[in-house]
Amino acid sequence: MKKYSGKQTIQLLTASVLLAAFTALAPVQAQTKKAKPALVQQANRALDLAVKQYKLMAQHLPDGQLPRTTGKDGSLMTSGPNWWCSGFYPGTLLYLYEYTKDASLKAEALKRMALVESQKNNKGTHDLGFMMYCSYGNAYRLFKDPAYKAVLLTSASSLSTRFNPTVGCIKSWDNKQFTFPVIIDNMMNLELLMWASHTSGDDSFARIAKTHANTTMKNHFRPDYSSYHVVDYNPNTGGVLRKITHQGAADSSAWARGQAWGLYGYTMMYRETKDKAYLNQAKHIADFILNNPTLPEDMIPYWDFDAPGIPNVPRDASAGAIAASALLELSRFTTGKDAARYWNAAEKMLTSLCGPAYLAKEGENNNFLLMHSTGSFPHHSEVDVPLSYADYYFVEALLRYKHWAK
Ligand code: GLY
Repeated sequence: MKKYSGKQTIQLLTASVLLAAFTALAPVQAQTKKAKPALVQQANRALDLAVKQYKLMAQHLPDGQLPRTTGKDGSLMTSGPNWWCSGFYPGTLLYLYEYTKDASLKAEALKRMALVESQKNNKGTHDLGFMMYCSYGNAYRLFKDPAYKAVLLTSASSLSTRFNPTVGCIKSWDNKQFTFPVIIDNMMNLELLMWASHTSGDDSFARIAKTHANTTMKNHFRPDYSSYHVVDYNPNTGGVLRKITHQGAADSSAWARGQAWGLYGYTMMYRETKDKAYLNQAKHIADFILNNPTLPEDMIPYWDFDAPGIPNVPRDASAGAIAASALLELSRFTTGKDAARYWNAAEKMLTSLCGPAYLAKEGENNNFLLMHSTGSFPHHSEVDVPLSYADYYFVEALLRYKHWAK
């Protein structure tokens, strides 16, 4: 752990005062939007259902495990704490605790979150942002336990070890198929670094996050602002070796969740830095998604915007949930027609996700909330199933809607 000087202690105090402004539910430049009463009602019903589902999940979940998806045999598939999704279940429970103040949800969240603590020293993955910030980040935001802060700062230090200054990026995967792969998803992990920088006063975390975001902006995007999934770099020169779309329909295609990660990532980086370049990038990505001719009427994307066989291909509700949460926030950073377009689109996405086509019935769907997400279609993995992160971003979006719409 870092030791703090007197100056850093003052920075720490300032940072904790500022913390509220940097949480997922309380972005700066707030603009209140008009609530649709019908959607607020639907959101409340979906959140009430989520509470029931996650209490049932808690009853069925084996000790030491975290829920992942539905397996090929139809039963609940779980993971250990080192799977990239391990933070989402505790994180969802914490959001639901915030909604209900139900102590049993908090107890289950903290019990399962403790499983994830071991990952704070994991230097073998870029996914620490997902794993630690969605769990410990929410716990620290709610309970201010200094032990959680320590876990988060250690995690941020571990994640920072994967940064290569020659490339200007954090390495995503340690995978022999690639040299120095960076995936668009990695934008999401920068939130942990921005938090660590604000909290500790150590600028190096923010410098890494901003450099990564800038390099990704330069190399991952096509002229239409869709993004490749993976850019593989030469770690000695920083040169681009190849650009591919590992989880998409083709290297040149727009994998739906990748577009949603980029949208959320650049919106978050604008919240954290106020750099207009990130805001513009987020707006361009949003416009790519919302103007895409293959975006269905219910606004929940097919698994890839260019999937062969549309409309007879699976959707990705997780991409819809992530995009809805991001669009609500982006709307608050924009004005006029842009703000209305992003807000209305998020409302449509949430209305769809709250409807019977996507929302599970109580006790079904292995007690997950949303149906019809796609993990990796080309790998025949997690196709048309529930996913823990679809639920996490859906619940986050519902709370954001309730919080921001008046
Ligand atoms: N971060 C992995 C995925 O979105 O599938």
